[in-house]
Amino acid sequence: MTKEKMVEQHAPPHVANETIAQPSRRRFLNRLWAILGLAAVAEFCWLAVSFLDFRKERNQHDKTQRIITVGAVDHYKPATVTAIPQGAFYLSCLSDGSFMALSQTCTHLGCSIHWDEEKQQFACPCHGSTFNPAGELITSPAPRPLDYYPVRIEDGIIKVDISTALRRERFESEQAARLDHPMDGKRS
Ligand code: FES
Repeated sequence: MTKEKMVEQHAPPHVANETIAQPSRRRFLNRLWAILGLAAVAEFCWLAVSFLDFRKERNQHDKTQRIITVGAVDHYKPATVTAIPQGAFYLSCLSDGSFMALSQTCTHLGCSIHWDEEKQQFACPCHGSTFNPAGELITSPAPRPLDYYPVRIEDGIIKVDISTALRRERFESEQAARLDHPMDGKRS
């Protein structure tokens, strides 16, 4: 008979029970750890999915926020310029009735330009550059025309996408949106 068997046989009953209970307690603890591990993984996955959903929602929200609706085409007369403070741009309705959204930032060193109604031109207070209503350069030192934002006309409503200011070297008619342009919505 082995030494352990002899000890077990002569041990009091409660000691023998504890020896038998050890493996089942270990099994129980192992299962508990496995369950806790699975719960932690499940929670991590749930948090990851929630975070991705949140990012997606926020991106959509940001995108919506970057489209500025400036009202109906009829509100603007040809050859007028209107400051749109919420988008920090000027909406220029050119003499042919087409629309441009012009950045308020001078292309020289970034000062804010203003519209001179009397002279019918944009002027920079810093070093005197001037630009016509389409943003074309009249007077240097600015090196190029004002940047512009894409304009869309949908059902007679003007919408400006201010997510990116577009750089250009010269004015081209496609930079302006007009009602009869196929991309610019229907005539109201
Ligand atoms: S920053 Fe406008 S002319 Fe210099």
